Amino acid sequence: MTATIVVGGFWGDEGKGKIIAHIAYSDKPVIITRGGVGPNAGHTVEVEGKKFGVRMIPSGFVYPEAKLLIGAGVLVNPEVFLKEVELLNVRDRAKVDYRCAIIEPKHIEEDKSSEHLKGKIGSTGTGCGPANRDRVMRVAKQAKDIEELAEFLTDVPLEINDAVDRGEFVLVEGSQGFALSLYYGTYPYVTSKDTTASAIASDVGIGPTKVDDVIVVFKTFPTRVGAGPFPTEMPQEEAEKLGIIEYGTVTGRRRRIGYWDSELARYSAMVNGATQVALTGIDKLDKECYGVTEWEKLTPKAKEFIEKVEEDVRVPVTLISTGPELNQIIDLRNEKL
Ligand code: GTP
Ligand code: IMP
Ligand code: MG
Repeated sequence: MTATIVVGGFWGDEGKGKIIAHIAYSDKPVIITRGGVGPNAGHTVEVEGKKFGVRMIPSGFVYPEAKLLIGAGVLVNPEVFLKEVELLNVRDRAKVDYRCAIIEPKHIEEDKSSEHLKGKIGSTGTGCGPANRDRVMRVAKQAKDIEELAEFLTDVPLEINDAVDRGEFVLVEGSQGFALSLYYGTYPYVTSKDTTASAIASDVGIGPTKVDDVIVVFKTFPTRVGAGPFPTEMPQEEAEKLGIIEYGTVTGRRRRIGYWDSELARYSAMVNGATQVALTGIDKLDKECYGVTEWEKLTPKAKEFIEKVEEDVRVPVTLISTGPELNQIIDLRNEKL
């Protein structure tokens, strides 16, 4: 085993956190490393009734044996990072690449007061856009310039590539989702960076030849927070009738809900170079599937849907999530690969 990248296939919030936590427990990576934009992400992990929402620390933290590394491409808000380190008790294994660019209070203020970012685009207000701009202008501070981060600094690519060369398993997590990519998303209603698997590999410093698997996570009913096109969006009342109401992990905003988008799913799987697909929220499609852990126990409606997804994305659906808890999952990787 070498490296596996997990990315979002739609507009983020597909449940990457849960899928990553499951893979971590079953495949035991020595390193879990995070790419993606920064603390605009909110990954939710639910274990034994406890719910964690993480914005900086890799969401695989629930698996206690792995080092938790934040790649150089990720923006770091030192306050959020240090708070999570304490809250999750991961001081001994959380590290930050010394080249990460830093989000300062001025970036957050600008993001929150900007008519364009907060008003038009509907940004998360976490300072990511302005901080990435400063990085492009080459005026942003880096992690190595921040005293409070000194004990956490490392060279993430060195750690990852050494592990892979030793034949150890490294799990790479993306954040946001394909349709929020600065390049391939619904521009200008997108985030401030590319979010595809290639970008995530670059964020953490691993070359494409060392990546074995790309798992793209889709949810049965895509969601979107903030403004912008959403071709399969349904009216709010319809979503309520289906019993689907979701709120953002970071902003608390209500998520817009849509129907499965075959065209977007196919394109997203293509650009990401998906080798497998993880599908979350099958319990939202059919309540009888809630908590099911075996393929045979899924309803015909759910099985048909999954088969249709496989036609759309042209790779096997190997992980099927049937609820928010870590153990509510069907893992078909041994059978299908
Ligand atoms: P971003 O990096 O912000 O894109 O986050 P994410 O992909 O980790 O997703 P997030 O945690 O923001 O949102 C997913 C939500 O769905 C969370 O509340 C999860 O607990 C929940 N969830 C995950 N899988 C399932 C599932 O199979 N069924 C149900 N009902 N909920 C799920
Ligand atoms: P920004 O990344 O905060 O600048 O926000 C730009 C757009 O991306 C807005 O529509 C946000 O709602 C969206 N966005 C950014 N990060 C996430 C995420 O982790 N999940 C879902 N939407 C996100
Ligand atoms: Mg989220």
